[in-house]
Parts: sequence; structure tokens; C-alpha cells
Amino acid sequence: MYLRILGSAAGGGFPQWNCNCANCTAVRAGDPALSARTQSSIAVSSNGQDWLLVNASPDILAQVRAMPELQPARSVRDTGIAAVLLMDAQIDHVTGLLMLRERRTALPLYATPQVLEELNGSLPLVRVLSHYAGVQAHPLSLSEPDFEVAGLAGLRFSVMSLTSNAPPYSPRRDAPLPGDNIGVVVEDIPSGKRVFYAPGLGRIEPAVACAMATADVVLVDGTFWRNDEMQVLGLSSKTAMDMGHLAQSGPGGMIDVLAALPKSTRKILIHINNTNPILRSDSPERAALTAAGIEVAWDGMAINLGTDNG
Ligand code: MLT
Ligand code: MN
Ligand code: ZN
Repeated sequence: MYLRILGSAAGGGFPQWNCNCANCTAVRAGDPALSARTQSSIAVSSNGQDWLLVNASPDILAQVRAMPELQPARSVRDTGIAAVLLMDAQIDHVTGLLMLRERRTALPLYATPQVLEELNGSLPLVRVLSHYAGVQAHPLSLSEPDFEVAGLAGLRFSVMSLTSNAPPYSPRRDAPLPGDNIGVVVEDIPSGKRVFYAPGLGRIEPAVACAMATADVVLVDGTFWRNDEMQVLGLSSKTAMDMGHLAQSGPGGMIDVLAALPKSTRKILIHINNTNPILRSDSPERAALTAAGIEVAWDGMAINLGTDNG
């Protein structure tokens, strides 16, 4: 399995266009302790040519340009993006779909019925795209969670419901239903190696704990360091938990959760908000992660599992 981090930042990206917090100011000024990051998306492939995009970020065009592997150029109009899988209907995970409108064929789109409902209702991207190449919707079932994707032979996907939150524009904001937020396990069938991916994760329920415990690589919600991070900075009245994100620090926080996993598990934080002190490579918070064996994802990060080089 080939896995590429296309975008490692949370909604807004890093730096965020209107933000003058210490991190955003420093990265704009070229401080070498920080690197810019685009909004949340990864790609997986079994052959290095045909990719499943997991989430379609508003930064997708820049991400495709930055990753030539997504452009195998087998014909005059061609893409390596075989299909898209959505974890939720948040703006930072879906609006890139609009940028894929020039496709020659309908885009295979894997999402839960709840997310498809949003994309046909409150944020009608699927309806808009029907005037272009359109999407071929593959509704996911939480009761029959395993599926395969055409073009990605040798990979098995399994989705699970997560506790997080529905998007601010959703009628289900603050009252999410199962299927508004999911995580995914991707298994490389020949080697049995597994990745668990959940960029928006508010609570560690038993199924999530089990998926994390049996994964070789865990790529999870790294949005906030502190539960009150946005409040302390005067940027929002909401806690991380209100927004559906489990903060890293504090008892029962993501560091504690990851520390309980086997030492051999690769533990990586992704979907990092621009306010998070872990973005600074020289911060005490980053040092605490490093001491706990936890990595911070970066744009362009490559993970190969069950292949010759991994
Ligand atoms: C979130 O996951 O809470 C988002 O990044 C919010 C957003 O995209 O506006
Ligand atoms: Mn987000
Ligand atoms: Zn900022």
C-alpha cells in the first residue's frame, strides 16, 4: 500500500488567510521551525498509479500539482484519482470535489448516506456536479462496512462511525447521527498491514480503540493541543470537544490514547489547526510528542506498507 499525505492542516490551512496568531505570523515570515500546510486530505494506492483520495480538500489543485504521482498521464486528459472517499461533509473535506468537474467520466464517490444527503441538500455539491461529469455515488453501510474500490486491487477498506460533529452548516450540527463522521481502516490484503485514518475524532469508542490497537499505522485527529485552545486565544467560544476534536494534552487526551498502543505502532497526528503549538518543531509540546513516539504529519509525507520499501 502506498499512502501519501496531501494536506495535513485542519480547515483554514496553515497559514490561514486571515489569521495573525503566533504560528501563522511566524510561518509567513519564513521561520524555519514551521512549514506551511494545505487542508486535510490523503491518497492511497496499491499500484502507485490509481489512487483513492480520502477527502477532497479545497487545496486539491495545489496538492495534485505537488504530487506528480497523481498524474500518470496515460492519455491527453487523465488523472490518477480513481475515486474519492469522504470522512464527513466538512468544507475542508468536500469542496475539492468541485475542482474535479472536468473529469471525462462520473467520479466514483464513497460516502455515508448522511454525507450524501448533505451534499444533495445543505451543501448541494453533488447536484451542482451533475451539470458537469457528475458523481457515481457509492453509499457506504455501517452495518456492512467492508468494501473494495475498482482500480485498487489488493486493498480492503472498512469504515466505522465516530463521535465528532456535523459541519456548522448542517441541520445536525451539535446533534450528529451515526454516519455523519466516519473513520476508515485500509488493509493491504497481501501483507495484512493496516492503516487507521480518522482526521476528526472526538471520542475513543470501543470500535475505534480496537481499530487503533490492530493497526500498524494510526493517523488521527491532531487538531488541537488544548481543549480550550481557541478560547484561550480569544478566537472562538467553542472547545475542541464542542467541535468534535479530542485534544492532545490532558488526562484521556490523544497523547494518553496513543501511548496505550503497542510501541511498534506508528502514531501520526494529522488535521492540525494553525493555532496548535505542535506545528513548531522547537516547541516543548512537539518535544512531548516526540518523547511519546508520536509524529506530526506534513504535506508530502509518504508511507509505504507491505511494499519492498516498507
Ligand atoms: C473541523 O474539522 O472542525 C473543520 O476543520 C472546520 C472547518 O473546516 O471549518
Ligand atoms: Mn476539518
Ligand atoms: Zn493562525
